[in-house]
Amino acid sequence: MGNIKNVANMLNPSHDETNRQKFVSILRKKILVDFAQDMKSVYKNKVEPKFNDLNNRYPTNGREIRTHMIKEMIFKGWSSLRYNAQLMTWLSVKSCIERDLSKMIEESNKIQKLNPTGGSLSLDSNVKIPREITELDIHLMPGCFHTEYTDHDVAQGALYHYGTNVFSGGLQHRKLVKGSVGTSIANFLKIAFPNFKPDKILDIGCTAGANTIPYGEIFSNAEIHGIDIGASLLRFAHARAESENIPIHFHQKNALETGFESNTFDFITSSFFFHEVSVKDTNKILKECYRLLKPGGLMLHMELPPSNETDPYYNFYLDWDAFYNNEPHYLKFRELDFESLITKAGFEKNKLLFTRIPNYPSTPEEEFKSSILDKSTLRRDHGNGAVWYTFGGWK
Ligand SMILES: C[S@@+](CC[C@H](N)C(=O)[O-])C[C@H]1O[C@@H](n2cnc3c(N)ncnc32)[C@H](O)[C@@H]1O
Repeated sequence: MGNIKNVANMLNPSHDETNRQKFVSILRKKILVDFAQDMKSVYKNKVEPKFNDLNNRYPTNGREIRTHMIKEMIFKGWSSLRYNAQLMTWLSVKSCIERDLSKMIEESNKIQKLNPTGGSLSLDSNVKIPREITELDIHLMPGCFHTEYTDHDVAQGALYHYGTNVFSGGLQHRKLVKGSVGTSIANFLKIAFPNFKPDKILDIGCTAGANTIPYGEIFSNAEIHGIDIGASLLRFAHARAESENIPIHFHQKNALETGFESNTFDFITSSFFFHEVSVKDTNKILKECYRLLKPGGLMLHMELPPSNETDPYYNFYLDWDAFYNNEPHYLKFRELDFESLITKAGFEKNKLLFTRIPNYPSTPEEEFKSSILDKSTLRRDHGNGAVWYTFGGWK
């Protein structure tokens, strides 16, 4: 690859910036593990018994719990810490990106001309950016997914990539650097369906490519495509994939109407995508997936688990993002009936697939295999990132 640098490995933080990033990672861990445990104790020892005294029953959903928990000092403290840690996550990498942005753009431009592995980048400035992206900074990420500050910009790709490394940096088992979700799903497919050998794979809402790249590594004979609406994200993703020697075709497309021909893909996936889309668009995008799948193909999306699959307290806990992290569709999405969601898109009821996949990078190989082959051993939670909830079906 000569002298081309990987844009995903170009952050040069100063001593103070490095420590700021470490601090934010550790703070987030403290909030999500220790403080969250303290908050749950207040719920179990005070709020839940009080609710039971008043109503002669326990809360049945997260919304009920929320109306009581938001009055508690511990929730207010925990929530404001979490909100501020979220903002600090992006701020902790922003100065480094601004300083080295022109160098990252230079590397991305070089690689676009060469396309050394045979991947590609096709951008389309006519793609309509959905209102939910232009109107608010999802995840409190400054500039959201679509902003471009300069020609050939890669800033939002860099912000997402380096920011999410800080975001998960304290959570050992996440190891996001290599795209934990994509790695887990691809390995799951190999074990659960050894005869399924997809030739064409599509990742929807691929952002900076972290979870697209593993499909190229693990299904190295397949043609891999990633779509997103953000040009800066896609330039970054493309530059990263090419310099990691993984050929991927990145396209700026709206998932509502991709323009790909019908019956094109053997496998369609996404990660952390649908909870950011309105229910109306979710229905349309799933229909589009059905149209794009070849007969016999598989659609499998990773998402937060639906609320009917998790206990009321955990729903209250997970739904924090809907209220404070600029993710307005999150709550309604999780309250959907996933079975009817997928069948409405065209999938037959007896061909649906719901499963929980252990996080491959942090699970010993034998345990990973046995939990896929014997589903009863799968853990039922998601929050610590150890298990990924997936839903979909075969066409
Ligand atoms: C939370 S991110 C997904 C993260 C990514 N899959 C990963 O695992 O790193 C959601 C992505 O979906 C993209 N997106 C949202 N609506 C879209 C649409 N209608 N069509 C295509 N991409 C969309 C956003 O630009 C954003 O990059």
